[in-house]
Amino acid sequence: MTDVRPPCAVRWLDGSGCVHRKRGASARVPGCLDIIDQARLPDELVRLHLSAPREIHDAIRRLSVRGAPAIGCAAALGLAACAQRFGVSDATDYLVKLRATADYLDSARPTAVNLHWALARCLAKVVPASIPEMDARLLDEALDILDEDIRMCDAIGGHGLGLLRTGMGVLTHCNAGALATGGCGTALAPIYAAHAAGYDIKVFSNETRPLLQGARLTAWELSECGIDVTTICDSMAAQVMREGRIHIVIVGADRVAANGDTANKIGTYPLAISAKYHGVPFYVAMPYSTIDRSLPDGAGIPIEQRPDCEIAHCRGARVYNPAFDVTPRALITGYITERGVLDHV
Ligand code: MRU
Repeated sequence: MTDVRPPCAVRWLDGSGCVHRKRGASARVPGCLDIIDQARLPDELVRLHLSAPREIHDAIRRLSVRGAPAIGCAAALGLAACAQRFGVSDATDYLVKLRATADYLDSARPTAVNLHWALARCLAKVVPASIPEMDARLLDEALDILDEDIRMCDAIGGHGLGLLRTGMGVLTHCNAGALATGGCGTALAPIYAAHAAGYDIKVFSNETRPLLQGARLTAWELSECGIDVTTICDSMAAQVMREGRIHIVIVGADRVAANGDTANKIGTYPLAISAKYHGVPFYVAMPYSTIDRSLPDGAGIPIEQRPDCEIAHCRGARVYNPAFDVTPRALITGYITERGVLDHV
C-alpha cells in the first residue's frame, strides 16, 4: 500500500489562521477562502487568501481555481468570507447583499453546473436571523459542501478502482484531479486508489490545449504523488490508442444533461470518438451534483467562450475559442459516481 496525499486545492482559513475542511470553524472573526493559484503551476506553488467578491470572481474567471467541483466549493467558501465583511447590522440588508454577491460570483463562468448549485445551496440555508447566526449558517453550509466533496471523491475512487487492473494504461484529459475538487479528484480518484492499492498503472495525460491543464496540472499532481504519468499532445491520443497502450479513458465533467450527454473540457468529444473507434472503454467520473436534470440533452448546456488571446498567434485571423465540448451519451461507456458505476444517469 502506498500512502499518497494529493494537494488541497480549496480550504477555509479561519480568523486565527487555522485550516478547516469540515464544519466546526468559528465565524466570529472573519476568515477567508484559501486556494492554490493554479495559473502559476507547475512553476510556483503559491496559495491565495481571498475574501472580496471581485478577487474571488477574478480567481475563478482566470482559472486560479478551476475544475467544476472546486469552483463550487470555492464560491461557497468565498461567499461566506464576503458575508463576514458586509458590515451591516440589519438582516434584510444582509440578505440583499448576500443575493447580489452570489449572483456576481455565479456569473464568473457559465458551464460548470457546480458553481450555481453550490451558491444556490448556500442561499437556501440562510433565513432571517441575527448577523452572527447567518454568518455561522453560511460557513457551516459551505464547509459541508467541501466535506461532502472530499467524501464523494473518495467514493468515486473506490467505485472506479473496480474498473482498473494492474498493468493498465489510463488516458485522461484536462485536470479532474485533486486540483479540480475539494478532495482527491473525480477522474483521477480511481488512479489514486489504484496507486494506494499497489497497482502498476501508467497514466497518459493529454496536454489539453489551449491552457494546458493536462500538461501543467495533471502531470504535476500525479508526479508529485509518485504516479507514472506521461504527457502527450491532444493530437496524439488516437495514435497511442492504436498502439494498444490505452486500456481505458477516464475524464471528468462540468455538466451532465438528463440524457447523459456530457460537457467537459474542449477536446473530450474527439477523444470519445477515437476511443469508440479503437474499442477502448470511455468513462465519465463525476459527483451526482454535476447532473443537471433541467436540461433534457446536451444542446442546452451553455458553453463558455474564452478570450481570443488564449489561442491567437496571427493578428489577421479570427479566433473561435470554446472552452468545452459536449460528448454524446452514445459514446460514453459509463459514469463513475459516488453511488457506483452506472451505465446511465
Ligand atoms: O476550464 P477548466 O480547467 O475549469 O475545465 C475543467 C474540466 O473540464 C474538468 O474536466 C471538469 O471540470 C471536471 S473537474 C473534476
